[in-house]
Amino acid sequence: MNAALSPTRSIENLSPFRRSSELQAGIPATIRGTIPDWLRGEVVRTCPAVFETSGWRAQHWFDGLGMMYAFRIGDSGVDFRSRLLDSATARDAWRGKSNHGSFGTSMTRPLLQRIFEPVPRISDNTNVNVVRLGHELVAMTEGDSQLVIDDDTLAAVRPVAYAGDTLRGAIMTAHPHFDFERGKVVNVATGFGASGVISIYEHAPAARQRDVIGSWRTKRVPYVHTFGLTPQHAILVVHPFAVTPVKMLWSSKGYIDHFDWHPEEGTRLVVIDRSSGEAREHVTEAFFIFHTVNAFERDDATVLDLLAYPNADIVRALRTDRMAAELPDLRPSLMRVVMRSGVERATVEKLSDVGFEFPSTNYKRVSGRPYRMVYGASDGYQAGSAWSSAIVKVDTETGASKSFSGGTHIFGEPLFVARPQGDSEDDGVLLSVGSAKDTEMSMLAVIDAKTMALVASAEVPSSIPLGFHGSFVRKG
Ligand SMILES: [Fe+2]
Repeated sequence: MNAALSPTRSIENLSPFRRSSELQAGIPATIRGTIPDWLRGEVVRTCPAVFETSGWRAQHWFDGLGMMYAFRIGDSGVDFRSRLLDSATARDAWRGKSNHGSFGTSMTRPLLQRIFEPVPRISDNTNVNVVRLGHELVAMTEGDSQLVIDDDTLAAVRPVAYAGDTLRGAIMTAHPHFDFERGKVVNVATGFGASGVISIYEHAPAARQRDVIGSWRTKRVPYVHTFGLTPQHAILVVHPFAVTPVKMLWSSKGYIDHFDWHPEEGTRLVVIDRSSGEAREHVTEAFFIFHTVNAFERDDATVLDLLAYPNADIVRALRTDRMAAELPDLRPSLMRVVMRSGVERATVEKLSDVGFEFPSTNYKRVSGRPYRMVYGASDGYQAGSAWSSAIVKVDTETGASKSFSGGTHIFGEPLFVARPQGDSEDDGVLLSVGSAKDTEMSMLAVIDAKTMALVASAEVPSSIPLGFHGSFVRKG
């Protein structure tokens, strides 16, 4: 067969990325074990779910068209519902077009359109995270818009109406922080011009006016997925995976395909004072990250824990053609970066030999403070075995770890839910969605965060694609 004519393999029907029907409402789950009677509310998540239409194909995992789904945990059981996300990007893709600037999929914009509109509209395919911002449930991707989601139907209702500020067109991360003491949502937005400007902004959860509290300018702009936050500082991880903005003008390539890896520059850490907006910079060896874990102040140092990859190769490993041939290894290292005031060089220390992604903590209790426990999904080639999936717990003080692995499912981000009036950092449960490898079934696993034993599972006859992030919204 002529290689040029052979079909490219797709992840559309490949576990753990395949999906069941487009809309599922009120499907009762089969429960095994006992769900704690204090655990009432809803797990709401978004994920990439459609990788092909006639005429369009996602070239990167992050560009799969989004699907919202939710497990509602009530007194009489657990039910499941899902819905494909109706975004402008998705409507384009269903027509076989790719007119929006997306993460790693080429655009099909005609040359004339590119000439007259050198900067494309940015994708609104909010498949990365969903959080509650005041009265609205908001789905997010890395883009200049976010979508309000209807609590009941999971339908996308409208874009979030940010207004009256200077951040129009800037790319927000899908990982806002919550400062519970000050009652603020804090996030980072990257603006592109002749150079780049990365702004830290905040707003009250229900407000839609973004106040810039500090910014940092740079000629070469790093890829920013998350950032660190303490009560005093916001910390930008400026890894050397960066782009000169002018390279993106008139281009038809995916956003990330303009970025280059320059390890000789090292990774810089920009520590921005949240009161004055002043920035101090540190440098250390080159590494790449998607996710920070937590940050806190200690004596004269700012400490940032993160999940580091040795380089940015993971970005290309998550292209759909690569994933169709081989599942990705999502096991970066848990590292601690210590930045002392007045000392340019930051120190880096590995905290554990257990690699994992999609980190989670007892966020409300420990965010911005010294802490011990981090949880995550360890999906990859485990020592001496084939690709497998586990939920892990790592003690950042001792490096000790525990894990849960069902063997039959591939698990994603474990959301920590604290037991009300719980007395220790790990007093609560982890909620993680697992997709069965060999059947069209998925489960919501309820795992005791202290012991990492499975407490209960709620199983539904649906293939839920492995995705990224979501929230647990407590009842009431
Ligand atoms: Fe993320």
